[in-house]
Amino acid sequence: MKRIVVLVSGNGSNLQAILDACQQGRINGSVAAVFSNKAEAFGLKRARAAEVPAHALAAAQFADRAAFDHQLMLEIDAYAPDLVVLAGCMRILSAEFVQRYAGRMLNIHPSLLPKYPGLHTHRQAIENGDEEHGTSVHFVTEELDGGPVILQAKVPVFSDDSEEDVTARVQHQEHAIYPLVVSWFVDDRLTMRQGAAWLDGQQLPVEGHAFE
Ligand code: GRF
Repeated sequence: MKRIVVLVSGNGSNLQAILDACQQGRINGSVAAVFSNKAEAFGLKRARAAEVPAHALAAAQFADRAAFDHQLMLEIDAYAPDLVVLAGCMRILSAEFVQRYAGRMLNIHPSLLPKYPGLHTHRQAIENGDEEHGTSVHFVTEELDGGPVILQAKVPVFSDDSEEDVTARVQHQEHAIYPLVVSWFVDDRLTMRQGAAWLDGQQLPVEGHAFE
């Protein structure tokens, strides 16, 4: 059974989708632990409710980013994860951290990458009058929101949409595609090689797997 460690900073609805998929056998693995840089993150409560060890590490307790990341790596490695999943982890991770989990760390970013890396993606899509928006699951590399895309889900944006409307529509898709990608990884179908994502031995295009 593959071991998954999840990093959250907030609500943890993507964590919940992954916990549920593990419990229902849609992911052939288990969440070994959840970490948060915010002690009050609701994601930690979700972990405890699922009887998964939940840990908070406060950046303020460490001298610098390197010291924080070093401790986080030690604590993560105690769970010997096959996969590290960033699920709303609102912290920029050091190069050392990213390198340690290279090829076995995933993130979900709420835009159709490479469009809108960084914050406030839904607001930007609305303000730019985009008719289409979405979310991307990608391998994590040192480039922020820049690693190879594995799978995207698209949603329409309507002219009278609020940011909340778009967020809800995108999150609905996230809860479907993130567990799916995690299941591919734990089933040994997914790898990162030569700066690209590969599924079932096929190199995926820049926008990820074409999911019809
Ligand atoms: C998600 O929309 C994800 O794309 C982004 O942060 C949000 C986290 O939501 N990285 P949640 O904490 O999983 O509910």
